[in-house]
Amino acid sequence: MAGDLLITRANLLLLLLLLPVILPSTAVHGVPLPDPCAGRRIHVRRLPARFNTDLLRHCDGAFPLADHPLATPACASLANHGLGPRTHNRSRSWYRTDARLLEPFFHRRLLDRDCLTDDPARADAVFLPYYASLDALPFLLDPAMLNFSAAHGVALAQFLATDRPRVLARRHGHDHFLVLAGPAWDYAQPADTDPRLWGTTSLLRRPEFDNFTFLTLESRAWPWQEHAVPHPTSFHPSSLPRLRAWIARARRSRRTALMLYAGTVSRPSRPNIRSFILAECANRTDTCTVVDCHGGSCALDPVRSMRPMLKAKFCLEPPGDTPTRRSTFDAVVAGCVPVFFEDASARTQYGWHLPPERYEEFSVTIPKDAVMLGGVQIMETLAAVPEEEVARMRERLLELAPRVMYRRHGSAAERMREASMDAVDIAVEGALRRIRGRVRALEDDQPEAMYAMDDDNQEI
Ligand SMILES: *[C@@H]1O[C@H](CO)[C@@H](O)[C@H](O)[C@H]1NC(C)=O
Ligand SMILES: *[C@@H]1O[C@H](CO)[C@@H](O)[C@H](O)[C@H]1NC(C)=O
Ligand SMILES: *[C@@H]1O[C@H](CO)[C@@H](O)[C@H](O)[C@H]1NC(C)=O
Ligand SMILES: *[C@@H]1O[C@H](CO)[C@@H](O)[C@H](O)[C@H]1NC(C)=O
Repeated sequence: MAGDLLITRANLLLLLLLLPVILPSTAVHGVPLPDPCAGRRIHVRRLPARFNTDLLRHCDGAFPLADHPLATPACASLANHGLGPRTHNRSRSWYRTDARLLEPFFHRRLLDRDCLTDDPARADAVFLPYYASLDALPFLLDPAMLNFSAAHGVALAQFLATDRPRVLARRHGHDHFLVLAGPAWDYAQPADTDPRLWGTTSLLRRPEFDNFTFLTLESRAWPWQEHAVPHPTSFHPSSLPRLRAWIARARRSRRTALMLYAGTVSRPSRPNIRSFILAECANRTDTCTVVDCHGGSCALDPVRSMRPMLKAKFCLEPPGDTPTRRSTFDAVVAGCVPVFFEDASARTQYGWHLPPERYEEFSVTIPKDAVMLGGVQIMETLAAVPEEEVARMRERLLELAPRVMYRRHGSAAERMREASMDAVDIAVEGALRRIRGRVRALEDDQPEAMYAMDDDNQEI
């Protein structure tokens, strides 16, 4: 493809950023430049529409997939390639984003990328534009389909095995990757579970997909099959000046509340870390802000949580139904220092995007057992952090914030010019790194190295 050969100043800068070692200093003196796409060529597999765009039609049919009852008109969440409708007519950066539509959005962003190739034999990785979580909806929403939820993905497996089978067979699927916009656990029900458990499918248990890399919103404890990418927030800046203006606003913002919790506010049936938080906050409404986010209301109306987050120093991020939550990334974007209660909430998940060994620099961890069993008071702990220390953490956080943002499509040239990678760029480079490692193990005939995860959670 022409795009492969075109060496612009922009992708050279990206190259400098990503692959410093392969660009010898002699290159500037007339020696041919190395290939900026080496090791990074992606083939986007063409799939029949039933595996992607047709699924978007469910939105006003049998499965009201993307549209929460609060969202009008129907199917509005599909706007802007999955970012959702703008929050206001004049807004350029804020959208009402439904996380499940990360699948079409990622697809759109992949097509914007340099270093694509039409020839799978030349590709370092193969991207499958399958809208996996949308294809799961019939099994989750239609009671008559529940008993067939182990079949999620069968049609895709059959297609890949029979249509140009060489693409899949070439590397036993180790070079394939795709997005699954949900927690991996929701797709990992053992295929032989009987009766079928409601709310989950067995996509990740299909043997045909054993070697694929799934980009999920949350990974399991031993994630050899998946890697977590940030939950999308509502902020998708269309340009770098808009991104910078927001960061400057978050930096300047006067923060009058010590801490904030945004999420479910109903008291859980059994005491958990959330009930301890709610109890502390109930006593101290002067220093703790509680934002009720029931039914996705904070995703659909981002002002609801973003405005108070700009006014809070710390944002509490307890585990909910699963360890991770979107609110963590809202907090990062707002410059509200996140407080974690277990490592599975972020540190062991998002290593490509947020450096695991530097959490102390931009977040606070209070083990949940210390609160629930040890009598540690959250408010007291946070109030004891010196003001300069909070400011330093906020500064680190805002430096990292662009890495977890999903920048609007069409921002590719600008990201490259600035050599700044967003959540999609980092996820793609992470997938490529993992795939290169596996393909090397395959070619060197070292199967024991295949699923080695030593450096898999390291920052990109
Ligand atoms: C926003 O734009 C739509 C369509 O152009 C228009 O109908 C609506 O009145 C506008 N809303 C506001 C608040 O300006
Ligand atoms: C689903 O399977 C269970 C047994 O595993 C059975 O009791 C139930 O009737 C089935 N439901 C439907 C809708 O077929
Ligand atoms: C997965 O990879 C292993 C090792 O390369 C291979 O033996 C196996 O057949 C692959 N599985 C599938 C379903 O291709
Ligand atoms: C809240 O205040 C009540 C009454 O002053 C007190 O008994 C209770 O221990 C306090 N709860 C927390 C979590 O501080």
